[in-house]
Amino acid sequence: MKIIIINGPNLNLLGKREPDIYGNLSFEDFFKSLEDKYANLELVYYQSNIEGELIDKIQETGFSFDGIILNAAAYTHTSIGIGDAVKAIETPVIEVHISNTFAREEFRHHSYISPNAAGIIVGFGLKSYELALLSFLK
Ligand code: DQA
Repeated sequence: MKIIIINGPNLNLLGKREPDIYGNLSFEDFFKSLEDKYANLELVYYQSNIEGELIDKIQETGFSFDGIILNAAAYTHTSIGIGDAVKAIETPVIEVHISNTFAREEFRHHSYISPNAAGIIVGFGLKSYELALLSFLK
């Protein structure tokens, strides 16, 4: 089973960025632990700070991968283009957020991804990604 985690802007700074909200672990270290735990799966990780690159990656994997775990970060709340890309593809997308976006500022309550996501996992820290992964397993 081929699953890609796609992370949007500023998530390359995990571990350094606002650790009280996002924790102390870098995504690379977290991803290594996921790969070890789910060695039977083909896991891929991609991060970009650029909206168009995220759309390219969604299109590129959206007809061949079994699942996409997408944290579009701030673009969640602004990007019609990423929302449209999620709608355009065949691969199911699980939207994830590390923090509970609904407990934060009002502008984080709206998502352009959610209407076309197969599911949404919000507010469990980095565990949100693992819960999304588990949702793809039979
Ligand atoms: C985030 C929540 C977004 O509102 C924010 O812009 C992020 C991270 C999260 O994972 O909690 O960059 O997607």
